[in-house]
Amino acid sequence: MTSQKKFLIINGPNLNMLGLRQPEIYGDLSLQDIIEYTEKKLLNKCECHWYQSNIEGEIVGRIQELTKQDYSALVINPGAYSHTSVAILDALHILKIPIIEVHLSNTHRREEFRQTKLTAKASTIIMEGLGKNAYFMAIESQLL
Ligand code: DQA
Repeated sequence: MTSQKKFLIINGPNLNMLGLRQPEIYGDLSLQDIIEYTEKKLLNKCECHWYQSNIEGEIVGRIQELTKQDYSALVINPGAYSHTSVAILDALHILKIPIIEVHLSNTHRREEFRQTKLTAKASTIIMEGLGKNAYFMAIESQLL
């Protein structure tokens, strides 16, 4: 049996509030609903580990741990930290595995301050505007 690819999916601040948070932009599914939806669509083709934090330093720490682990790729929605965090950008630059940055909304259609994406400088792929399919499509892109 060939070993399955293993993915870490990191969600940043306020993504634990999906469902309640601006449903007109992010939809009415909770993060847990999206996790279950994604896992179901992936049909056990890979192993997924989900991590969420509202704290910049914790996200940096989790990214650093990846250097000692055997993940195939990182999927990250840094939330608002995409627009501000040099610390997360620097941590991402340490990684050798593919980094797929996702945003549920299409930030290009939104406020000016969302147009700067610091973390995108370290990302291999950026996917935006896919809503609840964002994580599924990001992982699927690494299974082709
Ligand atoms: C987001 C977009 C960010 O601008 C925002 O701060 C978020 C969510 C998205 O998934 O569309 O928290 O990353």
